[in-house]
Amino acid sequence: MKNTFSYENKELENSRIKLGETVSERFGERQPLCFLHSFGCQQNVSDGEKIMMMLSTVGFGFTNDTDEADLIIYNTCAVRENAEDRVFGAVGNLKHLKEQKPDVVIGICGCMAQQKSVCEKIKNTYKQVDLVFGTFAYNDLFVMLEEIYSKHTKVFNIEENTGIICEELKQLRIDKVKATVPILYGCNNFCTYCIVPYVRGRERSRSIEAVVNEVKALVNEGYKEITLLGQNVNSYEYGFPELLREVDKIDGHFRIRFMSPHPKDATNELIDTIINSKHICKQLHLPLQAGNDRILKLMNRKYSVSDYMKIVEYARSKSPDFCISTDIIVGFPGESYEEFCDTKKVIKEVGYYNIFSFVYSKRKGTKAAEMEDGISDKQKGLWLRELLLEQRETAMEINNKFVGQIKEVLVDGKSSTIEKLLNGKTDEGIIVEFEGDESLIGKFVNVKIMKAMNWALHGEIAE
Ligand code: SAH
Ligand code: SF4
Ligand code: F3S
Repeated sequence: MKNTFSYENKELENSRIKLGETVSERFGERQPLCFLHSFGCQQNVSDGEKIMMMLSTVGFGFTNDTDEADLIIYNTCAVRENAEDRVFGAVGNLKHLKEQKPDVVIGICGCMAQQKSVCEKIKNTYKQVDLVFGTFAYNDLFVMLEEIYSKHTKVFNIEENTGIICEELKQLRIDKVKATVPILYGCNNFCTYCIVPYVRGRERSRSIEAVVNEVKALVNEGYKEITLLGQNVNSYEYGFPELLREVDKIDGHFRIRFMSPHPKDATNELIDTIINSKHICKQLHLPLQAGNDRILKLMNRKYSVSDYMKIVEYARSKSPDFCISTDIIVGFPGESYEEFCDTKKVIKEVGYYNIFSFVYSKRKGTKAAEMEDGISDKQKGLWLRELLLEQRETAMEINNKFVGQIKEVLVDGKSSTIEKLLNGKTDEGIIVEFEGDESLIGKFVNVKIMKAMNWALHGEIAE
């Protein structure tokens, strides 16, 4: 196989060469194809892109059709039960395919796979699966596939290790406009409802230099929006505001976003850095989770409603229309309807332009899974609907403020609802629809906002 790619890390490179040869022997002239699907958060998608890059260096191409794939990988999420159910459903559906095409290799990786109980369940029940690997095993991908191809064995690799960051593993980015860049991995916070610290291990930060160089390279390649990723970006070891200021010094026309800052250590310095920057979007995703102090304490969030409001008030004192979005969990164990109403009150007070809300999902192994929970999921679903209905009004009020303004929009693509319409997002992350030529996709366009809806803005290209 002709391949000019090489890793400087000897061990990695040797295993890559070996697998490359095995792949050539196995598939001959035909290019093998991989179907890879990442569920879950952007961190997971970014891991999926690393796997794709590794596979491409040993000769794999990619397909969206499991029927024509030689290798199928589901990169999974464990954050809520329905995320896990979808994976079990998808893998269950592959049973027939494996019977018809025994040579196809089926793999499951990511957060769900990292859980021992899930790995055991797959081993015992989903016999069509050949490969299970967790969030610490990406560096071993070549070795694992080599074992499967040459020894015809199954591989299960979910050992937790120190999770040393391998800077040599790069992402294969299909999108040429928006890119994600992880800045730290893992989480130390142990919010009582959350599985992430158990499946992603302890926090590890990349160096400022590594992050800045990667962002610079992406900007030079023409990327227009770069999102810095971490479960709690404020825990970034070398100072998050400092990192933002360094990234902001890069020349070019591009946007920086980040996901997510934890309110317990969001500082005025962070807000000042955003407001005074050139490239950082003037917006903050600040996950509240609950608006009642008793529930926040039970969640181990380490802030009170009043601590949270101080950050919001500071941001609004500096920039009165500062856009804030949030995550809410409805129906944490023991939450009463009155306590849920406290959350709605805080939501009204802050005036979020966007809310990602979820019914609490019990995660085995977490502290909250042991707590008494007297409210049914059906009831919690009704509370969630109540919250969403109120939020629609708030979003409408906020969106109305933009009518008449000219906003810079990064164009994402064609609207899925009405032909001839393009859509994109403002700096704040609000969707804008407008009429325009397809050639504008991936570019910044100034749009005059003519109308507001509760989910988007409508406008016309400004002269
Ligand atoms: N690190 C981020 C959250 C990552 S998980 C933070 O701390 O803000 C993304 C969101 O999923 C969380 O903000 C929370 O709202 C939701 N979530 C996490 N665990 C959940 C659970 N067990 N049930 C329901 N929602 C959950
Ligand atoms: Fe989960 Fe809390 Fe860590 Fe976010 S900060 S990933 S919610 S434990
Ligand atoms: Fe899911 Fe893992 Fe992300 S549990 S939300 S994919 S860190």
